[in-house]
Formats: sequence, C-alpha cells, structure tokens
Amino acid sequence: MTTHTDIYNLQSASPLANGVRMPWLGLGVFKVPEGAEAANAVKEAIVQGYRSIDTAAIYDNETSVGAGIREALAETGLAREALFVTSKVWNADLGYGETLAAYETSLRKLGLDYLDLYLIHWPVEGKYKVAWRALEKLYAEGRVKAIGVSNFHVHHLEDLLQEATVVPMVDQVELHPRLQQPELRAYAAERGIRIEAWSPLMQGGLLDDPTLTAIASRNGKSVAQVILRWDLEIGVATIPKSTRAHRIAENADVFGFSLTEEDHRLIAAMDRGERVGPDPDNFDF
Ligand SMILES: NC(=O)c1ccc[n+]([C@@H]2O[C@H](COP(=O)([O-])OP(=O)(O)OC[C@H]3O[C@@H](n4cnc5c(N)ncnc54)[C@H](OP(=O)(O)O)[C@@H]3O)[C@@H](O)[C@H]2O)c1
Repeated sequence: MTTHTDIYNLQSASPLANGVRMPWLGLGVFKVPEGAEAANAVKEAIVQGYRSIDTAAIYDNETSVGAGIREALAETGLAREALFVTSKVWNADLGYGETLAAYETSLRKLGLDYLDLYLIHWPVEGKYKVAWRALEKLYAEGRVKAIGVSNFHVHHLEDLLQEATVVPMVDQVELHPRLQQPELRAYAAERGIRIEAWSPLMQGGLLDDPTLTAIASRNGKSVAQVILRWDLEIGVATIPKSTRAHRIAENADVFGFSLTEEDHRLIAAMDRGERVGPDPDNFDF
C-alpha cells in the first residue's frame, strides 16, 4: 500500500503491479508542437529533476521529445534508465499488426529502444482488445517495461480483463477536483492498477476556483500546487503540462507541505463530474 508519505520528492516513484517503479509526478506535453518548444520543455523538466515524461503518437511531438531527452541526458549525465517515458498508441493504429508497427514508429521518433509505459490512448469499441494483445506481446518480449490503458471506464476494464492475460498496470484518465473518479479509483485500487491524472489542472480552468484559492492562500501555495499535492495525497500519479520553466518548477514544488483533513474535505465536495475532454463512452475520433 502506498501512502503519500512514500512520496517525498520529485524522484519519488512506487512499484506498479509488475514491480516497475513509476514516478508520481511527470511532465505532460499535449498540444506542444514539434520543435524547440517541446524539446526545451522536456530538457528543462529533466534538468530540474523530473523523471517522467508523458507524450503520445497523436501529439505529433515525439521527435522533439526524444531530442529534449537526449539533450537532458547529455547535460545531467543521467542514464536513460533514470527516466520513465510514456507514449500511447493512437486510435487509427489499434489492431494487432498496426499497434506493433505503431510502437516501432514511436520508438524510432523518440530515438529510444524501449518505453517505460505504453498505453492504449482511447477505448475504441471493437478494437482495444486486439490492440491489448499486441501490447501483451511487446511486454512479454521485454520490449516495454509496463503496459496500460487510457480513458478506460470501469466497464472497459472489466471487458478487457475478460480476455487479458496481463492486467493493465496504469489507467490514465481525466481527473481533477471537478472530476474525481471515485468508483474508478476504488476499482483500480482493488486490482493494483495505478491511476494517473490527465489535465490535472483542468487545462487551467481551476486556477480561479474560490475553494482552491482559499486553500492555496492558507498553505502559502498556488492553486496548481494544491491540486498536484492533492493528486499525490490521494495516490494518483499526475502529469501537469507547462512549457514555461518557472511553472515547470512551480508544479514540482509540492513536496514541502501537506493538505489538512479539512482541505481534503473541501476538495472532495468539489466533485461534479465535469469534464474538459470527451467522455470515453461518447467520443467520435
Ligand atoms: N490520455 C489522454 O487522453 C490525455 C488527454 C489530455 C492530456 N493528457 C496528458 O496530460 C497532460 C496534462 O494535461 P493537459 O496538458 O491537458 O492540461 P493541464 O496540465 O491540466 O493544464 C495545462 C495548462 O495549464 C497551464 N499551466 C501549467 N502549470 C501552470 C501553473 N503552475 N500555473 C498556471 N498555469 C499553469 C499550462 O500553460 P503553459 O504551458 O503556458 O504554462 C497549460 O495551459 C498532457 O500534457 C498530456 O501529457 C492525456
């Protein structure tokens, strides 16, 4: 059982169900275009101490993410093994051969010879089970350290588990104080599936929230820091995105304070099932 006392700095990581250690806080790069901005953000984050980077084939920035990783490794002297790199297979590539090929394309663009975590990006009906078999093959062959899914509701996981031989190690879903996913978190906890929050800051939409602003000012922290600290204290891995060095640093400075029970009670009361992205039961891409 992981508690937030196991999470004490930016390099803190805990074992997934298969023993592979996944950092609790990472950098997301959704919507960061291929080019210097993506490479610089990744490099900046790793130099600052981040160890986890989250990209996806559809973000179309894997080449720059890879360049940023190489620059950071050269500058810090870190080994590739110190990092935890995640990418995701896009919907159009869900199929057995297609998914295997997509993995190779992601590796080639990133300039890596393995990923730490490869995810099925969305639960496209009729396609995710066969794609999962491809991920299981990559995992069995030692080509990827851990495999998981993204945007899977409980019923998608239940369906997948009817045939899966490997239980997904991670489910990366939209999760923030307005969408707390209590049923999914409970289900995942029972089965050893790590929940990872995407859009933890609700893409900036929560930064003016009065409840969070009050908690932030009581703690002498920013709203972003309160949300990210909350993620860690409820046992959810988190991957805030920023391309600005000062925010990359701010988002990582969440280890020197703790939320009170009252803070948790106030945040728990904010849940209203509100999404910034599509519902995985109703997406059209
Ligand atoms: N699996 C999926 O389907 C899925 C979907 C969406 C996202 N994701 C992953 O989750 C990551 C995070 O989600 P997200 O990018 O959608 O949204 P997010 O991290 O909730 O919010 C990012 C936005 O907040 C701003 N920001 C970041 N830190 C801030 C701070 N300390 N103070 C004020 N503003 C701040 C960023 O602007 P600046 O960059 O200008 O600082 C950006 O506009 C993505 O990058 C991606 O890796 C996965």
